[in-house]
Amino acid sequence: MKPQLSPSVLSANFARLQEDIKNAEKGGADRFHLDVMDGHFVPNISFGPMIVRTMKTITRLPLDVHLMISDPDKYIPEFVSAGAEFVIPHIEAPYDIYRSVQLIVELGAKAGVALNPGTPIERVEPLLDKIDMVIIMSVCPGFGGQKFQPQALKRVKVLRSMLDRLKPAVHIAVDGGVKRENIAEIHASGADILLAGSAVFETQDVEKTVRELKHLVEKP
Ligand code: DX5
Ligand code: ZN
Repeated sequence: MKPQLSPSVLSANFARLQEDIKNAEKGGADRFHLDVMDGHFVPNISFGPMIVRTMKTITRLPLDVHLMISDPDKYIPEFVSAGAEFVIPHIEAPYDIYRSVQLIVELGAKAGVALNPGTPIERVEPLLDKIDMVIIMSVCPGFGGQKFQPQALKRVKVLRSMLDRLKPAVHIAVDGGVKRENIAEIHASGADILLAGSAVFETQDVEKTVRELKHLVEKP
C-alpha cells in the first residue's frame, strides 16, 4: 500500500495551528491524526470535537480521530458530525468494542481500532468485517514525544500477515515515537500510515520535515 504520512496534531503549536497545518500540507502530509484524551482512559486530557471542527475549516485532508476515552459511544456521534473520516477507539477499554465500531459505521464514518503495546493482535480478527484501519501503539498512549518501542515492528508484521489472509485493504498505522531514524523500517515492516507528532511539529521547518519524512518512505 502507498505510504501516507499523518502528522499528529497533539504536538502542533495551537497558537498558530493554521500555519502548522498549512505547512504540513505543503510538505505533502496525506491526512491528519487527532488525539482525544479524557484524563481517565489515559492520564492526560487533550481536546474534543471542537478542534476537529476547527481543523475542518483549515484543511480538506482526511481527519482521523484517535479516541483514548473510556466511553466512546457517548461521543462518537459528535466526532462523526464534526467531520472525522476515521474514528478509532481503543480495543482495550471496558466497553463493547464491536458495538462502538458498528456505531461509527452506521453513522457513515470509517472505523478503526487502536491496540496498546501489550494487547494480543488476534483480538482484531472478530472486528475485521467492520474496520478499515488498525493503529499499533508503539508507546503507551497518553503523551507525545515518547520513545518508540521496537516490539511494535514484530507486531506490525504479525498483523500484516493476518490482514493479507483476511482483509488486505485494512490500513496499518503506527503511533508513537516515529522519527526520521525509524520511519523507513516501520514502513518496511508493513505499516502504510506513519503517524508522527513531535518529529513533525517540534521542528523549525514543518514543511521541510514532512517532505523529508515522506521521502524516506517513498520508493525511488
Ligand atoms: C500518543 C498519541 C500519539 C502522539 C504521538 O498517545 O496517540 O498520536 O501524538 O506523538 P509522537 O509522534 O511525538 O510520539
Ligand atoms: Zn494517536
